[in-house]
Order: sequence, then structure tokens, then C-alpha cells
Amino acid sequence: MRKKIVAGNWKMNKSFQEAEELIEDLLDLMEDNALENPEMVICTPFPYLELATDMTDESLISVGAQNVSEHESGAYTGEVSASMLNSIGLNYCIVGHSERRKYFNESSQLLKEKVDVLLNHNIQPIFCCGELIEEREKEIHFDIVKTQITESLFHLNKEAFENVVIAYEPVWAIGTGVTATAGQAQEMHAFIRNLIKEQYGEETANNISILYGGSCNAKNARELFANPDVDGGLIGGASLKADDFYHIYKSF
Ligand code: 13P
Repeated sequence: MRKKIVAGNWKMNKSFQEAEELIEDLLDLMEDNALENPEMVICTPFPYLELATDMTDESLISVGAQNVSEHESGAYTGEVSASMLNSIGLNYCIVGHSERRKYFNESSQLLKEKVDVLLNHNIQPIFCCGELIEEREKEIHFDIVKTQITESLFHLNKEAFENVVIAYEPVWAIGTGVTATAGQAQEMHAFIRNLIKEQYGEETANNISILYGGSCNAKNARELFANPDVDGGLIGGASLKADDFYHIYKSF
């Protein structure tokens, strides 16, 4: 069954104490919530992951990382491996965020390796794709997204691919306050689902969650999530406030 997911990408924000407060506030808001669908996910900075997994242990909140090393283990100073993430009980990890593609030069080949290492350790990649504004203006946005997905995901067999979550995040909408219209989001999500259908068949295509990210907030979430191919959101700024994030989570 296709899962609805609202995931928060905290990026490089919050102190340890602020992280604890935010999780506490989310737990309070979630207290009366018995829903497993949609699933709430919080992707915190590395130093707060264990706190997050401990605090959310008995709740319906899942925890994810924002990055992972493509290597298994060894002399890679400063890196964090998928087996480490698995050992603290993480369910998800963001891969291929546009900020990592841009500032850390992450290539499709590298992202493919990160996807593989996560799946090998039973962590679901939240794979981000999306075009720059220039690419949309040139009307090559479908080609860009197709290439990103094909190069980093389509080497997977069907069984492995079914554990991937896709997040469409048009780069021009991230942190800008300019959201894709519901129509633009639906159009791209349907395109992505169709790519999956051509590669893996209709059943797999119907089972994959495709999230929207980019200035999604408490005001516009309902309209975006009402689209048949939008299965939730990957939320940046608005995931840093418990009330806003919870409001988005309730916007189906
Ligand atoms: P904003 O919601 O702040 O635009 O960020 C979106 C994003 O990059 C989530 O990964």
C-alpha cells in the first residue's frame, strides 16, 4: 500500500536543547493520534539522532538522517555509515538533496552508491530530485528529473526499489517562499510515477510514495496533498516549529 508521509528536514538547525523541546512538543501533539498513515518522520542533524530515536521510541514518529557515507566502514574521518544509522534504529535517510548536490558536488553516481548502502542496511532512502529555475524556464525540467531518477535509482531491482521514497523538490521553491502550484506538483509527480511504471510496472508505481518539497507550509499543504500523486511532503523551514509541522501533518 502507498504510504502517506510528512517528513521534516531540519537541515543544520537547532541546539541540542532546542531539538529536545521540539521533539517533546511534537510528542505532545501526537499523543492522541493513533494514525500510522500518514507517517511523521523527523530528519535531524547527526548529533541529535539518538536522542530522537530514544524519545520517539514508543510513538508513531519515525526518525531519519540527512546524509550517509557511501562507504561501509573504515578510515573516512568525519563520515557516518549506514550500519551506524541502522544500529541506532533509524528508518529513513535523505539522499540527493539539492543542497548536497550543489554545495558538496554530489553526483548521480555517488547518490547511487549512497542509495545502495542504505538499502543494504534496511534504511529507506528519501531520494530528492528536482530542477533549477533555469531548467524549468528552458522547459527541460522533465528531462532533468528523469535523468536524476534513472541514473541513481533505476539500477535497483523491483524489490529493492519498493523501499525507496521519492521527494520532488524543485530547487527554485526551496527556502524561497515560492511554492510549486498544485498543478505543477501534480504534473511532475504523475510524470515520475509514469517513469516508475515503465521501469517496474504499474503495481510498483502505485506503491511508491512521492513527496513534494519546497516552501510547503501550514497554509498550502492541504491543496498540495489533495493531488492524487502527491503522497505527502518533505518540509524544511516549517518543520522547525511543532505547531506548523503538525498542522502540515494533519493536512490530508
Ligand atoms: P523549505 O520547506 O524550507 O522550502 O525546504 C524544503 C526542503 O529543502 C526540504 O528538504
